[in-house]
Amino acid sequence: MKKTDIDNRFLQWFHEASPYIQTHRGKIFVVRTPGEAINNPDICEQLLRNIAGISHLGIRIVLVYGIRPQVDACLGEHKYKYHKGLPVTDDHVMACAEQQTGIVRLKIESQLSNALVNLPLTGVSARVCSGNFITARPYGIHDGTDYGHTGVVRKVDATAVRHQLDMGSIVLISPLGYSASGETFKLSSGDVAEACATALSADKLIILTDRVSICDSHRKLLRQLTEHEAHKLLHGQRKLDDKTRWLLRISLQAIDMGVHRVHILRWDIPGVILQELFTRDGVGTLISSEPYDTIRTAHIDDIAGILQIIEPLENSGMLVKRQRRQLEIEINHFLVAIRDDAVIGCAAVYPYGTTDMAELACLAIARTYQGSGGGNRLLDAAQRHAANTGIKRIFVLTTQTAHWFKERGFTAAKIDDLPITKRKLYNYQRKSRIFVKEL
Ligand SMILES: CC(C)(COP(=O)(O)OP(=O)(O)OC[C@H]1O[C@@H](n2cnc3c(N)ncnc32)[C@H](O)[C@@H]1OP(=O)(O)O)[C@@H](O)C(=O)NCCC(=O)NCCS
Repeated sequence: MKKTDIDNRFLQWFHEASPYIQTHRGKIFVVRTPGEAINNPDICEQLLRNIAGISHLGIRIVLVYGIRPQVDACLGEHKYKYHKGLPVTDDHVMACAEQQTGIVRLKIESQLSNALVNLPLTGVSARVCSGNFITARPYGIHDGTDYGHTGVVRKVDATAVRHQLDMGSIVLISPLGYSASGETFKLSSGDVAEACATALSADKLIILTDRVSICDSHRKLLRQLTEHEAHKLLHGQRKLDDKTRWLLRISLQAIDMGVHRVHILRWDIPGVILQELFTRDGVGTLISSEPYDTIRTAHIDDIAGILQIIEPLENSGMLVKRQRRQLEIEINHFLVAIRDDAVIGCAAVYPYGTTDMAELACLAIARTYQGSGGGNRLLDAAQRHAANTGIKRIFVLTTQTAHWFKERGFTAAKIDDLPITKRKLYNYQRKSRIFVKEL
């Protein structure tokens, strides 16, 4: 690759990432990593270096780790017993869990200590803190099965964790919890992470998982789900595997308790946390309490973003050319779709004088975001906006998108169906087709 290509890629990356650095600073992110990621030397080193790096940027990190493969290896022939999908922790399993928790903890601490030393900065290190932040109770006896040392989270000492975060430490939390009577219990790292995120009112819960995250029925990754969509998926007709059900369950619990965003990411993608947090689209599944994109009326600061989307379409002849000056004058007719503070789509609604008609124009979604329902949502918003202002019919002139509008209830119309002022402006050379929809 040529040096100019590398420079361009870096500049593009920096341009895309810099707003997120500002947005994420000071926020609390709870990250759950499975033991498999810790066992993989390359991924583990990269993951911990990335975590140390984002902590250095001012993001407050709670890192919860799992130890399942480490305990499995330690048990040898003596396997975990499961009842109704939950592990039974006998004395031998517990002894292995305690031993492996210590080993994994030391490994993470040592790698975090080393994570920033190769940077061209002096005196920079990632401070790590662990402690007895989790109070647990036994899961108990169910259907005659005693789950032994398997426990459930009873309480998270959020004040103590926050105090450590305020001091600039990364807080490291094991899947063990302690009871008031001094007993130790083996917990699920996912449940611990969810409880921490909830207790801390974390801004994000990031769950690293060991396989394709949440997919549709064609095994295609679902990039975003609202809380409502995740509920529908969990309780709908589709048969989901246990892992997907578990991921959805803890994500929804966290969201229900006030965590705004849950990210489900594959641990084996190199740099997965950086890619998720500092690029607009991320690489995993985002489950959020509110729709990820918002649609609102445009203001003058949106013009640069609108132009970025429509200029290539104007140059290809798909949209009619608009000068910047014209956009400035007409900006209050525009709606914009926003994702993470960036304009990713626009549409304009122009009412026609005393008629009950309005023109829908300049409907466009940025190329990289097409095909995921953004056009539909903008059209719905434009229709609602028009209907709220007393408009009864909207029309659209199009050269290449006729079928898209027909599939959404528009019907073909003639020039004579247009308001008189629009008829006079009709460009016969462009030969646009006219479509109308009753609202
Ligand atoms: C038309 C446009 C706004 C749709 O946005 P979008 O976010 O991609 O749309 P949605 O995700 O809601 O819908 C995608 C569907 O529309 C279809 N589609 C996209 N462009 C189409 C077109 N020109 N004609 C017919 N269907 C089209 C896609 O194939 C897809 O169909 P599928 O779901 O069966 O696979 C977007 O493609 C765009 O910006 N196009 C360029 C500008 C334009 O033509 N604007 C209209 C000017 S009046």
